[in-house]
Amino acid sequence: YRVLITEPIVESVVQRLENHFRVDVGKRGDFNNEEQLVKAIPNYDALLPMLSNPVTARVIEAGSKLKIIANHAVGYNNIDLEAAKKNDVKVANTPDVLTQSSADLGMALLLAVARKIVEAQDYLKAGKFEGWEPLGFLGMELNGNTLGIVGMGRIGTALARRAKAFGMNICYHNRSHVESELEDELDATYMKSVRELAEKCDVLSLNCPLTDETHHLVNRDILAAMPDHAIIINTARGPVIDEEALAEALHSGIIGGAGLDVFENEPEVHPRILNAPNCVITPHIASATHQSRKSIGMLAADAIIGVLQGKPDSDIPNL
Ligand code: DGY
Repeated sequence: YRVLITEPIVESVVQRLENHFRVDVGKRGDFNNEEQLVKAIPNYDALLPMLSNPVTARVIEAGSKLKIIANHAVGYNNIDLEAAKKNDVKVANTPDVLTQSSADLGMALLLAVARKIVEAQDYLKAGKFEGWEPLGFLGMELNGNTLGIVGMGRIGTALARRAKAFGMNICYHNRSHVESELEDELDATYMKSVRELAEKCDVLSLNCPLTDETHHLVNRDILAAMPDHAIIINTARGPVIDEEALAEALHSGIIGGAGLDVFENEPEVHPRILNAPNCVITPHIASATHQSRKSIGMLAADAIIGVLQGKPDSDIPNL
């Protein structure tokens, strides 16, 4: 069997697959467009793509030997699930193993924005520090303020636990209530709509998948509903926010700040987000820890080995 890994990943994962199959590893960015994937895919039985690779219906249909797509991510909005199902191709993602690293980054962005850490560092490095100032860099204290989570799944829950340890009150919006034990543990309040959550919270964190339903979930109206000191954190997917509206809201002071790890048209970042006040940005690194990236790769590799050897693990989510 032949396996295509679309770009270099942790070496021990490649070796694990090489113990079983003939493996090709693409160069970074080689497969970020549909055409190149369509051209390559007929040669492969398994595909291990990145979230930046568009695994469209055309790609899947061109994969005459393709049996499994094991995404190197928990999100899978880059894969046409309908087409995979129709063509009897299994799809796996990598839940759990990046929950803690992603929640850490959400918390890091929140702290960085709330306490103006990047702005303060820039000031210091520019040689502007003239001694302790009573009114310099005043930010938001987390203790006693309210975090609103859109999407109380694994990562949302892990972020809520961290925020609770910092003394924050937790509110959330989901399609439905989480289990009552979890609501009790977090003392979390369910909100019927994102709008209600936006009105009530000092911080709004996006932790939902990107679907037709969540595309531009945060638009001009939602931003206008947020208090003007409020901070928005996005470690989910860029298109969940209307980036144009967010840039405007940051520049005009409709909200207080943003911490963004994801962008609407990655790798491009809206120029008015790049220069927005009190906006901390990172290049989609939520899962970028040694532990998570190795485990992500191993989970994807295990899914491929299971399917190609005819013993798929019952845990493989056939999405
Ligand atoms: C994922 O796995 O979906 C994340 O976006 C990686 O950071």
